[in-house]
Amino acid sequence: AAVYPFYGTHQSGIISPAQDRLHFASYDVAADLSRDDLIELLQDWSAAAALMTAGQPVGQYGAVNGPYDAPPDDTGEALGLPASGLTITFGFGPTLFTAADGTDRFGIAAQRPAALVDLPHFPADMLQDTLTGGDLCIQACSDDPQVAVHAIRNLSRIAFGRAAIRWSQLGFGRTSSTTTAQATPRNLFGFKDGTANIKAEETEVVDEQVWASADDGAAWMAGGSYLVARKIRMTIETWDRTSLREQEAIVGRTKGEGAPFSGGTEFTPPDFAATGRGGEPLIATDAHVRLSHPDQNAGAQLLRRGYNFVDGNDELGRLNAGLFFIAFQRDPRTQFIPIQLNLAKNDAMNEYIRHVGSGIFAVPPGASEGGYVGETLF
Ligand code: HEM
Repeated sequence: AAVYPFYGTHQSGIISPAQDRLHFASYDVAADLSRDDLIELLQDWSAAAALMTAGQPVGQYGAVNGPYDAPPDDTGEALGLPASGLTITFGFGPTLFTAADGTDRFGIAAQRPAALVDLPHFPADMLQDTLTGGDLCIQACSDDPQVAVHAIRNLSRIAFGRAAIRWSQLGFGRTSSTTTAQATPRNLFGFKDGTANIKAEETEVVDEQVWASADDGAAWMAGGSYLVARKIRMTIETWDRTSLREQEAIVGRTKGEGAPFSGGTEFTPPDFAATGRGGEPLIATDAHVRLSHPDQNAGAQLLRRGYNFVDGNDELGRLNAGLFFIAFQRDPRTQFIPIQLNLAKNDAMNEYIRHVGSGIFAVPPGASEGGYVGETLF
């Protein structure tokens, strides 16, 4: 079973091979939290994350070896389970730097990276406040759902009185590959998702498109990245009544193989200039893969790391299902935002999806052993 180190140049959970399961949580800090309290919380979180990602229980005594008359340090449900590829990735939201009322609660407003913008309102956005924003976030990914949930539960417990969950999301199936060794998984539309994703082996692309550098403006973010999360509802009942022809035209790839409509196999690069007998483009002008492709977006790429979700059903018996989209990038101003604007305006897929939640977070570089994530900021 995989074990990924918590300490290092970069936080894990970005270019680490995408695990099967997700528990993501966004937190708001307590109103009276001081700068020292915030630093202490980040230190406590890093120490606990280092233990859990190594497959160890949190705290001095773990789940069952502490004083009999005190609540155990660790909640216990991961006892006996391996690390299961657990990664824990921390992020800082815009409101950590500048509170909603404009105050600089922690004396860090001047260090807010220019790239950590407030996301604009995109056409057709239907964002719910209860699924949007947050001062801090934690992305826990693992191949075992119990291990991912144990991580978020224990980190939330450690934060008690200092930060509380604002919104959260469970994901049950990865919708991307982040290494060439992984097979491409499928999203809930039934299509391969992650074919043209940035892969960890493409080190030049990763350096250029994923990692922030010291001369991007915020030196403390060097080796970090920016996470954009979007909770996207898919109206799968409508999709399921759509013909295969229509489904494939919307994506611009075949459903079985995942090959571009311009020909070839899954990993053949799409040819957007290719036309059919009548001169019509083989990959439609409103196809998702055309509009999201770097050729249409000034070369911008994303490292996608999203998950399928089904949160029960609505009162009409329809599944409350979709894609919890997560993307890492060096600068959302030139990557997620223009790509999403392009999609929101023109994507044929829009008829079947609805963006209902959103978050943007600066993901600091990794910490060295004994340090904590965020130490370069304070
Ligand atoms: C590609 C599905 C939302 C960006 C793809 C592909 C599928 C897909 C099937 C083709 C295979 C692949 O290369 O991965 C979906 C679904 C979405 C969704 C079902 C919503 C429910 C988004 C959003 C963005 C995005 C919100 C970014 C703003 C991309 C990019 C590619 C891609 C950059 C690769 C394009 C290329 O270089 O060929 N998506 N996607 N997608 N998607 Fe999406």
